[in-house]
Amino acid sequence: NEDVYMLGIETSCDETAAAVVKNGREALSNVVASQMESHRRFGGVVPEIASRHHVEQITLVIEEAMQQAGVSFADLDAVAVTAGPGLVGALLVGVNAAKALAFAHGLPLIGVHHIAGHIYANQLVTEMKFPLLALVVSGGHTELVFMKEHGNFVVIGETRDDAAGEAYDKVARALGLPYPGGPHIDRLAHEGEPVMDLPRAWLEEGSYDFSFSGLKSAVLNALHNAKQRGEEIDPRQMAASFQASVIDVLVTKTAQAAKEYGVRQVLLAGGVAANRGLRAALQEKMKELPDVELVIPPLSLCTDNAAMIAVAGTVLYQQGKRADLALNANPSLPL
Ligand code: KG4
Ligand code: ZN
Repeated sequence: NEDVYMLGIETSCDETAAAVVKNGREALSNVVASQMESHRRFGGVVPEIASRHHVEQITLVIEEAMQQAGVSFADLDAVAVTAGPGLVGALLVGVNAAKALAFAHGLPLIGVHHIAGHIYANQLVTEMKFPLLALVVSGGHTELVFMKEHGNFVVIGETRDDAAGEAYDKVARALGLPYPGGPHIDRLAHEGEPVMDLPRAWLEEGSYDFSFSGLKSAVLNALHNAKQRGEEIDPRQMAASFQASVIDVLVTKTAQAAKEYGVRQVLLAGGVAANRGLRAALQEKMKELPDVELVIPPLSLCTDNAAMIAVAGTVLYQQGKRADLALNANPSLPL
């Protein structure tokens, strides 16, 4: 029996998630318990509350994932868990659960990088073809990652300040929208026109780095100044203008890098990949590179989930990589 059955566990932020994936390609289950409601009234994720929710949910979520997949622990080949980056108290809940299960059932333990997980979500959509470029855009990360083979990640560009999702959430907050604000800005943006002139941080010629704090400040200043003058800014126009600026930079740099690195595929990954404007703009832009295949996962695989961790874990497992019971959560784990 050469099939590989991997249990994946993810608790790096505010989703308690478990999934069973077969052969790194097929999600037999993908269970996500969101804590969003508990954090909403605080306008962001409260680490202490996140840890407590994970503790309450983790056993139930794992049981549910096993049941939905129709497998028992004896059927599993290994357990993969997000070891970082993320909130340390949140990560620890998943890591400890995975260690306990691996020990109790005599299964190999695999530690997975959260961003590797986001990238590998794409393998549930199609086969990955190297060399490839992944645009990772989430609440904590904005990175262009070049991969020449499985497990080989080279960060060719990253944000120098705010992550894209972070900028979305902060601008949303200033517009009085609930947390997390990304989806609300996305919705408003489609009802408005990008009529306001907002900055685009291209940085130095040839740089694939990003910067979103200047854009965020420009939005906050415009809102503040309008308020001082007793004027109204239409939130739909502001959302559309902000979104246009973010997408313009993301899409332009991604296409440039894809061309320079001569990749066969471009993969979109992370929570902000759920953005309808970004998905459409990237699709349009990539028409300029007809030889490069663009892969965009369904929304449920863009935001935090455990199927992506199980897929990345399967690749590591097949490469013979194992963690031991000394595995620890690392909030700033390098890719
Ligand atoms: O990957 P993710 O679920 O968690 C992290 O690892 O950070 O990403 C969450 C981020 C949040 O900032 C959220 O506002 C953003 O993804 N997001 C969106 C959309 N859906 C989620 N941003 C823009 N447009 C969306 N439709
Ligand atoms: Zn994430």
